[in-house]
Amino acid sequence: MANLTSLSEILLSRRQKLAELIDFPVVLWSGSTTSRNFPANLFPFRANSHFLYFAGIPQENAVIRLEGSNLQLFMDDPHPSSTLWHGETPSREEIAAKIGADDARPMSELKDFLADAATIAVQDAPTWTQQSQLLDRWILPRQLPQGIDLDLAKAIVSLRIIHDESALMELRKSSAVSIEAHKAGMSATKKAAVEAEIRAAMEAVIMGHNMTTAYASIVTIHGEILHNIHYHHSLQPGDLLLADVGAETESGWAADITRTWPVSGTFSSTQRDIYDIVLAAHDTCIENIAPGMEYRDIHLIAAMVIAEGLVDLGILRGKPEDLVKMDLHALFFPHGIGHLLGLDVHDMEDLGDLAGYEEGRTRSDRFGLGSLRLNRSLQPGMLVTIEPGFYQVPTILNNPKTRNQYQYLVNWERLEQFADVRGIRIEDDVLVTEEGCEVLTATLPTQAEEIESLVS
Ligand code: GLY
Ligand code: MN
Ligand code: MN
Repeated sequence: MANLTSLSEILLSRRQKLAELIDFPVVLWSGSTTSRNFPANLFPFRANSHFLYFAGIPQENAVIRLEGSNLQLFMDDPHPSSTLWHGETPSREEIAAKIGADDARPMSELKDFLADAATIAVQDAPTWTQQSQLLDRWILPRQLPQGIDLDLAKAIVSLRIIHDESALMELRKSSAVSIEAHKAGMSATKKAAVEAEIRAAMEAVIMGHNMTTAYASIVTIHGEILHNIHYHHSLQPGDLLLADVGAETESGWAADITRTWPVSGTFSSTQRDIYDIVLAAHDTCIENIAPGMEYRDIHLIAAMVIAEGLVDLGILRGKPEDLVKMDLHALFFPHGIGHLLGLDVHDMEDLGDLAGYEEGRTRSDRFGLGSLRLNRSLQPGMLVTIEPGFYQVPTILNNPKTRNQYQYLVNWERLEQFADVRGIRIEDDVLVTEEGCEVLTATLPTQAEEIESLVS
């Protein structure tokens, strides 16, 4: 958040905007962490994002109640004995003053303020169980909310999807630190023997800024495993290293960046051919981002550029338009072009597709297109990722059915010549503006030569 004096103003403005959309009270829980292996050894706490949006600080075991512009805070002061282990922590009154709460009460009083209140489920079981018990209805994290809870979810989506100035300030901070992390990863590669050393160099930058990773880092020579979170492989000179690493600020705002670079510092000619296709898809998508543009069409632009590139290389046979209609590009680019970004790396996916899909739209059943996480008309203030890729996924490409079905449309012999390209993705964070767009992560190079010189 901007600074202490303005935090309460930011939060007030968010409450006022919410109050224009709904006419019932709202109660939001921050949630709690869980034990790793015995009660006193805990996983790091991450506050619920809807709570963070309106409370601004990651306070564990806290609840806020919003009604119009009024803000109430419910939390218990730490037990006096906790100072021995945790030192002095701010009191309820101090936290209330910091966030501009009109009133602060112990948790035991929350039950008296829940009449007609809406909420959103928190992910951890003790909290959603408490939510359900206190509100006397099921509040479940993996189900679409109902009634006023659904009205609240829709209202919050409409606010969080368009970032305000203070959100953007935080998002720029997480982008800047993530860019630095990627540069550190590139510089560390020459001396690294295993993936884990590159991950460590990248996450050290994030930790050094007192931030956390916004999601489990992907730092791998097996980029074809889309969410590979193992870091034990040794690095060979002919490998490509795919790093999908993003920072999250203390108040929860995320970045999401991917770069792919050659371990040796130089792309092979086959790696470079495919890299340039993915980069062309990335650049063409970004050139087309503007208010009113359909994000689904941005996805299809990437599909077309990839299909054209693969036809030019002799990997696919046919007209690119026809190949895209048949989802041939999706054999190599099986995911969507990106997603919303904000307090969550896939922003508001705790609400299923409520944020990602405009009302009345549902997922396609087409291969590839069905994985699209965002299907909306773009508006100024939205932050989206653009992340085309090319992957040789064995379970897709070695499937005898696929081989048989596409024996002519894919030149399988030609494809074998690209065996040193397992996975390439290039991902940037793009803010939709009135005029078009701004790439928040633009100062991290994407051109092959620039990447090579950062590695070398
Ligand atoms: N970092 C996960 C993603 O790019 O969606
Ligand atoms: Mn992403
Ligand atoms: Mn990513």
